[in-house]
Amino acid sequence: MDNAGLRAAAAGLFPGGVNSPVRSFRSVGGDPVPIVSGQGPFVFDAGGSRYIDYIAAFGPLILGHAPAPVVEAIRRTAGDGTAFGALTPGEVDLGARIAAATGLERIRFVNSGTEATMTAIRLARAATGRDLVVKFDGCYHGHSDGLLVKAGSGVATLGLSDSAGVPAAIAGLTAVLPYNDPAALEAWFVAHPGDTAAVIVESIAGNMGLVEPTPAFLDALQRTPRAHGALLIADEVITGFRLRYGLSDMLPAADLACLGKIIGGGLPVGALGGRRELMELLAPIGPVYQAGTLSGNPLVMAAGSAMLGAIADGQAHDRAAALAGHLQNGIETALRRARVPGAVVRRGSMLTLFFRDGAPFDYASARESDLSAFSRFHRAMLDRGVMLPPSQFETWFVSAAHSEAEIDATVLAAGDALREVASR
Ligand SMILES: Cc1ncc(COP(=O)(O)O)c(C=O)c1O
Repeated sequence: MDNAGLRAAAAGLFPGGVNSPVRSFRSVGGDPVPIVSGQGPFVFDAGGSRYIDYIAAFGPLILGHAPAPVVEAIRRTAGDGTAFGALTPGEVDLGARIAAATGLERIRFVNSGTEATMTAIRLARAATGRDLVVKFDGCYHGHSDGLLVKAGSGVATLGLSDSAGVPAAIAGLTAVLPYNDPAALEAWFVAHPGDTAAVIVESIAGNMGLVEPTPAFLDALQRTPRAHGALLIADEVITGFRLRYGLSDMLPAADLACLGKIIGGGLPVGALGGRRELMELLAPIGPVYQAGTLSGNPLVMAAGSAMLGAIADGQAHDRAAALAGHLQNGIETALRRARVPGAVVRRGSMLTLFFRDGAPFDYASARESDLSAFSRFHRAMLDRGVMLPPSQFETWFVSAAHSEAEIDATVLAAGDALREVASR
């Protein structure tokens, strides 16, 4: 089936023709691109077109597509059976690698980042005997009911859900504060002493585009909740093992860390971890129930172990970050030449080009970006064989499989695309 045939067939099967909304390309006014294969830095659509890929499965693929050690581990493991509903050596191997790299004393594997954050919050509520949770406007922690919430303004408020189907009673247990605003965090705890179980935050915000935390915000995150008896949950689903081998190190005082993406080598995974006494509140030792038929699945564990084995020396991180730096420089030059207002925010191998003057510092400022310019840019890049995440509010991921040739080609395409944006 060609691209159009697959799109049409999918539209008759899946709501919006996709199984996860951002893949629909609706936010850039496009159509889903059916991908049939990936190799290194490239993906190929059903029409045989090749794209330089910066979606990278939204984060897991730090070694690019189909890296040999990961593919080989999956093949080898599959022949021995794909699921047992029992403890397996693969869990012990990946768990030990993660524990050694992060210092997390106890870990639980789940099947997605959503499950990891959902469980971390349940654990925090049980540990503190409190119900309220604080999150930050523009941070995404998966799609569990209580986390699909953001504030309509910069004022601290108990949330209204972003999604239909979330009961007000549940959304009302989540407070949403502006990102990078230590005073708002302090004010929240002063106004609600003794009610807040946890503060959850992306160590670097990657879901409003890449927005960096200020040192003052990071400092407040590590002091303020603790001072008021609440836990800090570091959502490292994107950043864990992406910025360095281990946790990002931005929130060393976090009580719980959530992981996903890279630790599964591109297969479905999530994990949470923390101090032993906290984690042992989980069943079967403690009273907090959590379970999963396919949690710790042998294929996922093998893929994750192969991935971590291949990146443990940090060389992939260094290479991907250096390439991302070249991409940043190239796009900044292209922006100046085309006289298009824009800012490239980068941390390691993650970056976002915002169509606004200056880097944003929170979701409100990120939303000031020119979304129609982004959509035109996205389309123009796709036409030139570059696959960017289909939203202004996503992060681009550079992998160690990219080479200078792909970065140069991307910068060239960006120059053309920005001239096209400027000419409208
Ligand atoms: C920071 C963060 N947390 C949690 C999640 C949810 O992970 P999953 O999509 O595996 O449920 C995501 C997904 O992109 C994420 O970016």
